[in-house]
Amino acid sequence: MTEELAAGVPRPVTRPRRLRTTAGLRSLVAETTLAPQQLVLPVFVREGATEPREISSMPGVVQHSRSSLLAAAHEAAELGLGGIMLFGIPEHKDAVGSGALDPAGILNRAITDVVGEVGDALTVMSDLCLDEFTDHGHCGVLTPDGRVDNDRTLEVYAEMALAHADAGVDMVGPSGMMDGQVAAIRTALDDAGHVDVAILAYSAKYSSAFFGPFREAVDSSLEGDRRTYQQDPANAREGVREALLDVAEGADLVMVKPALGYLDVVRRVRDAVDVPVAAYNVSGEYSMLEAAAARGWIDRERAILEMLTSIRRAGADVVLTYWAAEAARLLAR
Ligand code: PBG
Repeated sequence: MTEELAAGVPRPVTRPRRLRTTAGLRSLVAETTLAPQQLVLPVFVREGATEPREISSMPGVVQHSRSSLLAAAHEAAELGLGGIMLFGIPEHKDAVGSGALDPAGILNRAITDVVGEVGDALTVMSDLCLDEFTDHGHCGVLTPDGRVDNDRTLEVYAEMALAHADAGVDMVGPSGMMDGQVAAIRTALDDAGHVDVAILAYSAKYSSAFFGPFREAVDSSLEGDRRTYQQDPANAREGVREALLDVAEGADLVMVKPALGYLDVVRRVRDAVDVPVAAYNVSGEYSMLEAAAARGWIDRERAILEMLTSIRRAGADVVLTYWAAEAARLLAR
């Protein structure tokens, strides 16, 4: 069987290819798993909408009406997803984001709707941030000279956390990158008796161009950027510092966001903390793959699963992704 090789070419002694011979073997030795319960579906719900509305920069993702949101939540539960992350788009915005605190505001209503329908089957999470509710589009309230006022914003986040908790949420996701936000929210929740409401902290959130399509998704009013509060893409060590601070402040899970360009940060955070780590596969990551697939430049389904597996391999226990439902369907085949 073994003919001589050309002179001087030794036969390999060790053959890693042996474990790649069949699909069964490959699956037996796979180091990373991807399963529906590790995935969280981010969804948008628009106040006053009677029909779902398409988001042109995110083909396949919509701004839900309250009723289409419930259908999506049911589907997510049936597919066995780990959770659903709710974003609200209010009809009216103002300088302080009042719509975020109003119990009748769209996000608070949506929380109650979804918890009432699928609360037993699905972890219901809410984005805790002001940017969808402010007319200037920043994640906090502004000082008279137009800077984002960290500590005043904490007061509003504390109230927003209570509104979400009163609406029935399981887990709040503070995403504004204000210093001390996790401690402020934890204290407010505990003082009000909401000791079981968990906090998924957007700990290492970078000032990223990959949030671009999301800005259309939530009709953002932002002019300028968030560089004075979101992190510089150049910094990984600082991302670990942010995660450690959030754990010390009481975060139940910490998150790195975006995911793809920051897999090193995901790994470093995973190695540094002892709580579950999430990563957010953001809008721009979604849109660039969808755009390439629409042109026939990439095998869409394989690329989706490869991307999500890579995020898990880097160390994410939980992945937020707009493909959560689709990935669950692909995994079931
Ligand atoms: C802030 C928030 C943003 C995203 C999630 N929460 C936008 C931002 O910080 O500018 C981005 C999500 C995505 O791009 O998919 N509420």
